[in-house]
Amino acid sequence: MKYLANFSFLGLACAGSHAASILTGTSVTTPLGSFNLSRGAACACQRLSHTSGGVIRPNSANYTAQAADAYWDVRADLSPACIFLPATANDVAHALEVFGSCDAQFAVRGGGHMNYPGSNNIVGGVLVGLSKLNNVKVNSDTVEVGPGLTWYDVYSALDSHGRVAIGGRMKTIGVPGLTLIGGFHYFNNKYGYAMDNVVSYDVALGNGTQITVDKDSHGDLFWALKGGANNFGIVTKFTLKTYDMPMVSTTIQVYNESGIPDFITAVCNAAKLDEEDPIAAGMIATVEYNATTEVVSASVLGVQEGAVSPPSQFSNFTAIPATTRINKIQSMKSWVAVLDSPKQMFRVMFSHKSMKPDPEVLYSIYNAWKDAVDEIADVEGLYPTFVTNVHAPSSARVALNNGIGNVWGLEAEPLILWQFSTGWALAQDDLRVEAWSRQLTERLHKINVEKGLASDFVYMGDAGGWQNPFAGFPAENVARMREIRSSYDPKGIFSRLNWGGFKLGI
Ligand SMILES: Cc1cc2nc3c(=O)[nH]c(=O)nc-3n(C[C@H](O)[C@H](O)[C@H](O)COP(=O)(O)OP(=O)(O)OC[C@H]3O[C@@H](n4cnc5c(N)ncnc54)[C@H](O)[C@@H]3O)c2cc1C
Ligand SMILES: *[C@@H]1O[C@H](CO)[C@@H](O)[C@H](O)[C@H]1NC(C)=O
Ligand SMILES: *[C@@H]1O[C@H](CO)[C@@H](O)[C@H](O)[C@H]1NC(C)=O
Ligand SMILES: *[C@@H]1O[C@H](CO)[C@@H](O)[C@H](O)[C@H]1NC(C)=O
Ligand SMILES: *[C@@H]1O[C@H](CO)[C@@H](O)[C@H](O)[C@H]1NC(C)=O
Ligand SMILES: *[C@@H]1O[C@H](CO)[C@@H](O)[C@H](O)[C@H]1NC(C)=O
Ligand SMILES: *[C@@H]1O[C@H](CO)[C@@H](O)[C@H](O)[C@H]1NC(C)=O
Repeated sequence: MKYLANFSFLGLACAGSHAASILTGTSVTTPLGSFNLSRGAACACQRLSHTSGGVIRPNSANYTAQAADAYWDVRADLSPACIFLPATANDVAHALEVFGSCDAQFAVRGGGHMNYPGSNNIVGGVLVGLSKLNNVKVNSDTVEVGPGLTWYDVYSALDSHGRVAIGGRMKTIGVPGLTLIGGFHYFNNKYGYAMDNVVSYDVALGNGTQITVDKDSHGDLFWALKGGANNFGIVTKFTLKTYDMPMVSTTIQVYNESGIPDFITAVCNAAKLDEEDPIAAGMIATVEYNATTEVVSASVLGVQEGAVSPPSQFSNFTAIPATTRINKIQSMKSWVAVLDSPKQMFRVMFSHKSMKPDPEVLYSIYNAWKDAVDEIADVEGLYPTFVTNVHAPSSARVALNNGIGNVWGLEAEPLILWQFSTGWALAQDDLRVEAWSRQLTERLHKINVEKGLASDFVYMGDAGGWQNPFAGFPAENVARMREIRSSYDPKGIFSRLNWGGFKLGI
């Protein structure tokens, strides 16, 4: 299936005074404490080198494998002072104690798919790679998952039990990053987001204490972890709900340029669909444009619960003349198996905003994007895609009705999340493509603001490093998250020393 190569990438961040008593020498003092990157790292690497796993130092094959090759975005390859691969939750907790007492800056990597440099890696600090925390335990209606696993690992473990968890739509996405930021799956319209399906989190706090967080124990933190990202601790285990679903009904449909207006209308209708008792169904909907050949193609990769084929919820897509259409009944594992997003695929930048579904305006965004791509057609290895994600009203109802909620605080109103995912080959083009992507997005969003169509909601999984998703969450939720952070991380380990990723701010 040659065309599947086209889909291969898609789906596309006190102890300071303690340290000062251990260490001598000058340091940089800020309102947040004292910092000396190299001294903190030297102290932490030294202490972690005495653990049973040791640390990985620069100039070794293991270092390259962990500091560079484990990342999807080539831009995210950086040069940490050393790399620590904890083998147990106790190792994670120990590392956090060390970072606090050494005043050492660090980064944490799960599946390595967050798309911008510094979100999951660090220059001159300590990188913690979670790959060895790869236990999985299947229970009757939950699964316990280590943060070193990918979603393919999870779907594979559940396969023989005929069950499915609500996680990533593609193979290689990491469990921890996706679950901590929200998690778009195919079945959000019925079961809510990945975060809404977590029944408990094992967390290592900044001071090295380990706690289990669920609705009855540390309920405040339980809520904050549902969308609050890497601001509170390192999660060492997720316990997720599972659903009985031995088979799913899938459809792959590809359209040429003539199909684009109807494709965009069908995406908007899917967002507006508001059923009382929804059939779980959702998709990856993408437009690709090759600026060299000027060929446009759109695709929908759709999945529906049950074994009705073709999947009924995609009838509006099926009505569009397609160049390729493949319907199947298969397991979630086998569907996800071919949707790979290989490590080190390219340099890539995301930019995204949200809006109310309006097919005409979404079509004009598509056209503006296509015109703008022509302006950078000379960029080597250019790989421009226009991606839409839908938030149907029912997707919000799980959190609105479960007595827990999540930090997004979204209403049961339809939204389209539109995104430009732009890949390219050479570092020399970084600044140009990054400026292009951001400026285009801000310009188009401003038009939506003027038309009264814009939403402030920004999903961390679709956003670029230049964006601040917390600014789009309800202000009272952000204030509550800051209070929760100060009670669980009073020394600011996750705001002063682990500063990469989407941070709550002071
Ligand atoms: C090709 C592609 C497809 C995608 N498809 C989807 C999709 O279908 N649905 C969706 O919702 N999103 C999707 N995303 C977005 C994706 O969810 C995010 O990029 C997510 O951060 C990936 O998780 P990860 O573990 O691989 O990330 P990483 O880059 O390893 O981590 C992301 C962030 O989480 C922090 N972190 C990691 N592990 C932990 C932990 N255990 N405790 C505390 N903090 C931690 C890291 O420090 C980092 O800041 C996709 C992204 C790509 C590139
Ligand atoms: C930081 O620490 C290093 C190593 O201990 C030292 O050489 C350097 O002078 C320190 N820098 C500052 C600005 O204090
Ligand atoms: C380095 O890599 C080798 C081969 O993969 C592995 O056996 C070894 O355990 C690794 N060392 C560390 C410190 O991770
Ligand atoms: C299909 O489109 C129609 C409008 O033409 C809309 O009423 C309907 O809800 C859509 N169905 C689905 C499943 O998206
Ligand atoms: C687009 O695809 C449809 C369905 O295969 C086909 O009928 C139509 O001729 C194609 N249009 C162009 C411009 O290639
Ligand atoms: C665009 O088409 C050219 C010419 O066929 C090809 O070399 C290039 O790889 C294509 N780009 C993408 C992103 O597919
Ligand atoms: C670690 O921090 C938590 C949350 O602030 C606190 O409950 C716990 O007592 C602290 N543990 C130690 C050993 O200081």
